[in-house]
Amino acid sequence: TPKPSNKMIEAHDLLRKFYHHLLVNTKEGQEAYDYLIGRGFTREVIDEFEIGFALDSWEFVTKFLTKRGYEPEELEKAGILVKREGKDSYLDRFRNRIMFPLADLQGKTVAFSGRILGEGQPKYLNTPETSIFSKGKILYNFHRAKKHIRKNQEVILLEGYADVIAAHKAGCFNGVATMGTALTEEQAATIKRNVENVIICYDSDGAGIEAAYKAGQVLTKVGCTVKVAVMPSGYDPDDYVNQYGTEAFRGEVLEASLTLMAFKMRYLRRGKNLQNEAERIRYIDEVVKEISLLPRAVERDHYLRQISQEFSLSLDALKQETQQNNRFEK
Ligand code: UTP
Ligand code: MN
Ligand code: MN
Ligand code: MN
Ligand code: MN
Repeated sequence: TPKPSNKMIEAHDLLRKFYHHLLVNTKEGQEAYDYLIGRGFTREVIDEFEIGFALDSWEFVTKFLTKRGYEPEELEKAGILVKREGKDSYLDRFRNRIMFPLADLQGKTVAFSGRILGEGQPKYLNTPETSIFSKGKILYNFHRAKKHIRKNQEVILLEGYADVIAAHKAGCFNGVATMGTALTEEQAATIKRNVENVIICYDSDGAGIEAAYKAGQVLTKVGCTVKVAVMPSGYDPDDYVNQYGTEAFRGEVLEASLTLMAFKMRYLRRGKNLQNEAERIRYIDEVVKEISLLPRAVERDHYLRQISQEFSLSLDALKQETQQNNRFEK
């Protein structure tokens, strides 16, 4: 008999194909299909990413898979079914949702994320952590993006599935995403094993900016060189591509991405009134602290000059400040 994990993966494989079939070939999937097309997904990306649809049913998958010899207990462990409270029967976890298959780093489908059609909570329902699926380990689209990441010597790190797909529409096949959680050191290490240069392209909202700052720290720690792409406030890459087009996304977002330090300066500036002396000094202290952590002397020099010019401060004084904090020169 095959290992339980193989059985779980087989079930996901079967289900992925079945969900995709329901979306693209059936009357039941029509509304979901139209919703996706209305949002700018093309038939090409629907096929490429094998997006699917889970029927509005409590037991369709339960029957479909148990008929094919899978044990409900196993399917529950795989996150596909949910056990009914206090009963010996099972329900489909995903109902009436658009299904995004989630693959492990090798490309085997190990989980799903199901999006509600339109508004509602939760927006995305995910497979819970299982023996074959760990959110903090996998990166969405990594297995497809890997060869492009290596060829371009660059990876684009995005926030959501729709953003990876929008980047793909824009000809950027080197995009990956986390699954709604902060980038882990393990994910960063996976990135670093394949590439040094990372462009973080998170949503341009409070949460996205905060998360970009944190991801920048984690990626720097593992030795990556990080840039951060910025978009008009309130946009995510998917919104941006649909509103401004693929060329603007490449030219005005990705190519215009900021060095991590330039992004941090913007980040530290947020909510501060630099006309106010106390706030201005606090800003300068924070920036100088960040500058002093930069590993290369030329970089430190570059940003210190920028600060010295902007605030009419003596470069020597700023240098003294950084030398007090600098961990590389002592
Ligand atoms: P967002 O809220 O930015 O969603 O969450 P999105 O990707 O822009 O989705 P659309 O465009 O409205 O369809 C970013 C990511 O966080 C995870 C998902 O991975 C999502 O892509 N997330 C979000 C969840 O897991 N559950 C949620 O309820 C919401
Ligand atoms: Mn297809
Ligand atoms: Mn977001
Ligand atoms: Mn978003
Ligand atoms: Mn979005």
